[in-house]
Amino acid sequence: MHPEVKKFLEEKNKNIEVQGKNEELVSLGLKFLADTASLKYSYNFTWMGRPIIALPQDMLAMQEIIWETKPDLIIETGVAHGGSIVYYASLLELIGGDGLVLGIDIDIRKYNRDLIESHPMMNRIKLLEGSSVSEDIFSQVEEIASKKKRIMVCLDSNHTHDHVLQELELYAKLTSVDCYCVVFDTVVEDMPKDWDWGIRNWGVGNNPKTAVRDFLSRNDDFIVDKMIDSKLLISVAPDGYLKRIS
Ligand SMILES: C[S@@+](CC[C@H](N)C(=O)[O-])C[C@H]1O[C@@H](n2cnc3c(N)ncnc32)[C@H](O)[C@@H]1O
Repeated sequence: MHPEVKKFLEEKNKNIEVQGKNEELVSLGLKFLADTASLKYSYNFTWMGRPIIALPQDMLAMQEIIWETKPDLIIETGVAHGGSIVYYASLLELIGGDGLVLGIDIDIRKYNRDLIESHPMMNRIKLLEGSSVSEDIFSQVEEIASKKKRIMVCLDSNHTHDHVLQELELYAKLTSVDCYCVVFDTVVEDMPKDWDWGIRNWGVGNNPKTAVRDFLSRNDDFIVDKMIDSKLLISVAPDGYLKRIS
């Protein structure tokens, strides 16, 4: 590696470590998310025309992961309008090869399905409709995964502890070594305790982060990639970027 490139990377990584340890900056990131949540800030963006319910920061981290790990299958639970699956598909298209995105949702509304199925990235997408934790859906996922070599998993469906834990028990093992299983909306645990989650049945103490903690307490194959949290500061997935190490 050229010494200048090495110097650039070392300086960047050092700064990331320092900012990740800066409690004031970390809490500023959380405050930004809490203060913009009532305006649904994470609903503000699109990718290639499809609404993507995610933060730009997390999506840039996903791009870095996908480029670095080059998965040939990305499984995502939680499709909604299709923005994230179209985004991952477009990255696989740019990388080349035969990469596929498998999107699973319990309720793919017709107007969303029509727009996803007519999207230019659809040749890299397969949709499955049903609960991510149902036997029928998971056996279809296993069948598709059995034909692929490098698998990445993204969990972004129902955000209750029990559901995410069930998803982790089923899907995490499909993740290839050195690839990632990303659990979204772990940030729910870091929001104010008296937060009003409306009709949603998750909240502090019952959310993807509590499921990740539970899962990791019994599983040594994954580590939390803290460098990603430190890099982003503003993220819906703190402690949710799980790297498979064995
Ligand atoms: C946060 S949205 C997904 C957002 C999408 N990943 C994006 O970034 O644009 C959550 C989705 O999960 C779906 N969902 C809820 N429970 C589910 C389940 N048991 N299995 C699969 N999908 C589920 C909902 O229908 C909803 O479309």
